Amino acid sequence: MNQTNTTIPVITIDGPSGVGKGTLSHALANHFGWHLLDSGAIYRVLALSALDHHLSLDDENRLAQLALNLSLTFDTHDDEAKVLLDGLDVSQDIRREEVGGTASKIAALAKVRTALLQRQRDFRQLPGLIADGRDMGTVVFSDAPVKIFLDASAKSRAERRMNQLRSKQICATFDEILQEITARDVRDRNRTVAPLKPAEDALIIDTTSLSISDVFEQSINYINNRHIM
Ligand code: C5P
Repeated sequence: MNQTNTTIPVITIDGPSGVGKGTLSHALANHFGWHLLDSGAIYRVLALSALDHHLSLDDENRLAQLALNLSLTFDTHDDEAKVLLDGLDVSQDIRREEVGGTASKIAALAKVRTALLQRQRDFRQLPGLIADGRDMGTVVFSDAPVKIFLDASAKSRAERRMNQLRSKQICATFDEILQEITARDVRDRNRTVAPLKPAEDALIIDTTSLSISDVFEQSINYINNRHIM
């Protein structure tokens, strides 16, 4: 498979939902002045589009076709990056729990994952890339020189997710979120294609009782010791 620009450095940040990957990835991208790939947003936009088109979530061929033709843009001009589908801002819509759940269902389909592979690899641009997802270190950028895998208890992730959603004025109860996170974990970890798991050469950080700055500091120390830039 075509791996674009393999000389450009990539740092992969993988882990389950609500573990703090997004926060760490943003902080690292800002710190190094690198590009950022939020691969989950791509799966979410695809899910939103599939829901809009009333596609059956079992129709692998049509979903893969939709993935190939997805008109998706990341607008990074403002501080808060916007995600556009067919030119419309869907940044809020894609954060809905229903969309996350649908994303994890269609993300289990091999043809869908293949259809999205090159689109993700194209983000590998100078001076470097922080790639946030589930299979960044194991599949999409398996040659990355630095791989980090974040993990945390489902309860602490549900708490974080709830605060995140509330700050965006999206309402959901703790029980709903915990249930959704647990269901998504089971699907993401047990699927046959690109299951959620740490790459063999990944640093694993359990963030359950760590602050954002602790996680950032551990990551920066690890990255600096790898001398990749
Ligand atoms: O990270 P986020 O919660 O936005 O991802 C939504 C869903 O997309 C995940 O639950 C997962 O099933 C899927 N996903 C994936 N591979 C990625 C990123 C996300 O399968 N690299």
